[in-house]
Amino acid sequence: MTGLPQSSATIAAGLASGRYPAGGLAFPHRDLTGIGQLARHEILFLLDEAEQWVALNRQPQKGADLLSGLTIINAFFENSTRTLLSFEIAGKRLGADVVNMHAATSSVKKGETLIDTAMTLNAMRADAIVIRHASSGAVRLIAEKVDCPVLNAGDGQHEHPTQALLDALTIRHALGLPPQSDLNGVRVTICGDLLHSRVARSNMLALTALGADVNVCAPPALMPAGIEAMGVTPFTDFNAALKGAQVVMMLRLQQERMEGQFIPSPREYRHLYGLTLDRLARAEPDALIMHPGPMNRGIEIDSQVADHASRSLITRQVESGVAIRMACLDVLTRRARGVPGWADLPEIKAGSAP
Ligand code: MLT
Repeated sequence: MTGLPQSSATIAAGLASGRYPAGGLAFPHRDLTGIGQLARHEILFLLDEAEQWVALNRQPQKGADLLSGLTIINAFFENSTRTLLSFEIAGKRLGADVVNMHAATSSVKKGETLIDTAMTLNAMRADAIVIRHASSGAVRLIAEKVDCPVLNAGDGQHEHPTQALLDALTIRHALGLPPQSDLNGVRVTICGDLLHSRVARSNMLALTALGADVNVCAPPALMPAGIEAMGVTPFTDFNAALKGAQVVMMLRLQQERMEGQFIPSPREYRHLYGLTLDRLARAEPDALIMHPGPMNRGIEIDSQVADHASRSLITRQVESGVAIRMACLDVLTRRARGVPGWADLPEIKAGSAP
């Protein structure tokens, strides 16, 4: 189904009253392929939905049975540790049957096309498919072919939407901002391989949509042309980029996506772009430290920074990740589960005009 009778007046009225548009109007998308597809209030809606799961996950008894009887397939065509585990735990905590498909042991290795694999998963009547793939756009392609919600767990250098959502939630909690808050005026500096990082792209989209002031920093060879158009301020001097930062987000060099030499050497990269304790002193006092993992300690981030007891949010990012993925799986399956206010509404499928 395409299109939605979603008047901007309805949305504005809902938002003005401090709430979201009613029922499924709050999140009309069938799929989550990227932050770029979402309006600001839809991002906030997912963050707010995740709050209940943060609370549940801190209880000894973590089970909920919302998705009981549903099958979720995690189809990972690229390596992953935390994202795969996080989606698996999220699905299981909501009571779904979760199946993991690893490309290394699948028919992909025998030459099967992506579309054929997608059609196979579809024929098994999955209720949601979570996909990670090395090609930008592959997730959207699959979403256009299958009959159930598709969630992007990272596609090439395009997007990693749940990472950006979990990062925003982590920042909101760490700054003591209440539910429904955006990140208006929060100063974030993102540093690393901006050219190849899907985490950078999704975070730039999410943070700017939520009102944060975002500095981005990379060596000239790893700085995408025209990045200013994303509403961020680019720097090649990390010391300058750190000035005023309340949050510093470090990114790994995405060696697996590099063809050729982008940095002179890891040693020189650390010298200019590594987050050391000394360099962190150029940010705001008590600036918070983030990294999506996996970290290359001693290159983009020093251990003293990554393990900083009061300022590192890295394990809290992992915690938020499970809650965000529970929220996404819950919200995206509401229509199929017949949740009142959701079941009778049309949805926007990836690839269709909003
Ligand atoms: C990703 O999948 O993009 C990771 O979470 C970040 C990385 O690989 O550096």
